[in-house]
Amino acid sequence: MVENRYALAGRVALVTGGSRSIGRAIAVRLGGAGASVAVNYCRAEGQARSAVEEIEAAGARALAVQADVSDPRAVERMLEQAQAALGPVDILVNNAGVLRRTPFLDIPLEEREWIMHTNLRGYFLVAQAVARRMVAGDIKGCIVNVSSSSARIATPNLAHYAASKGGITMLTRAMAFELARYGIRVNEVNPGLIETDLNRADVQNPDWLAGRLRGIPLGRVGRPEDVAGAVLFLASHDAGLMTGASVAIDGGSTIT
Ligand SMILES: NC(=O)c1ccc[n+]([C@@H]2O[C@H](COP(=O)([O-])OP(=O)(O)OC[C@H]3O[C@@H](n4cnc5c(N)ncnc54)[C@H](OP(=O)(O)O)[C@@H]3O)[C@@H](O)[C@H]2O)c1
Repeated sequence: MVENRYALAGRVALVTGGSRSIGRAIAVRLGGAGASVAVNYCRAEGQARSAVEEIEAAGARALAVQADVSDPRAVERMLEQAQAALGPVDILVNNAGVLRRTPFLDIPLEEREWIMHTNLRGYFLVAQAVARRMVAGDIKGCIVNVSSSSARIATPNLAHYAASKGGITMLTRAMAFELARYGIRVNEVNPGLIETDLNRADVQNPDWLAGRLRGIPLGRVGRPEDVAGAVLFLASHDAGLMTGASVAIDGGSTIT
């Protein structure tokens, strides 16, 4: 009975940045629940194809779709391809994001623009294009934005990244407010430290890791699967009354 509430058979999900790390874990988890999954990638075509194979091996349909999420024409192309192959998207997971650690005083404008373009403009473009299709097709779908604990607390050398993630929190709430009348739910997850390609070098540095672990009450680094479970819940019937919510997945690091 419990599994049935999380069954996504007949649903079509698009996961941006689904080729690797957190996005891949989300794509595989949604596929494992029976959704057809469009796995977006920017450069990692081979990894996107291997995610597709993993989803297909579990019995669901999947497709790898290339697009730079900050490019509006590429986003439209991606949605056309996904819809033609799998049907209209009714679950969007905005996950594709980038990070670089630089002291605020040294951040070059180009680096700030790159982070804002991918993390904020990208989330906006994909969500708007998907939501327009949902409204036109009377699809009561859901959108989950992968934000960050950086939307809640400041940590060193991430001013541009934190600003982009704080922007995602208000984008989530504003979209939730405006799209509720169409039956579309919009929520976000706020992961803390999750070991991925994005931060593996830092996590493998014992001094850096010890400093970070001191701020995590549960005392461990997260895994991509920790995020995937929360996204599956937000996409499920059990989250039917949730919209505009921010769900922390951070071992308690933003409690205080
Ligand atoms: N790891 C953490 O500790 C952590 C914590 C909080 C929040 N997050 C958030 O979680 C999300 C995923 O992070 P991650 O750690 O899994 O990162 P990651 O390992 O670096 O993977 C990033 C993913 O985003 C894709 N991507 C990057 N730029 C893109 C673009 N312009 N267009 C389309 N796809 C693009 C990459 O695709 P290609 O490889 O195909 O280029 C890749 O699939 C990000 O939004 C990040 O901010 C991560």
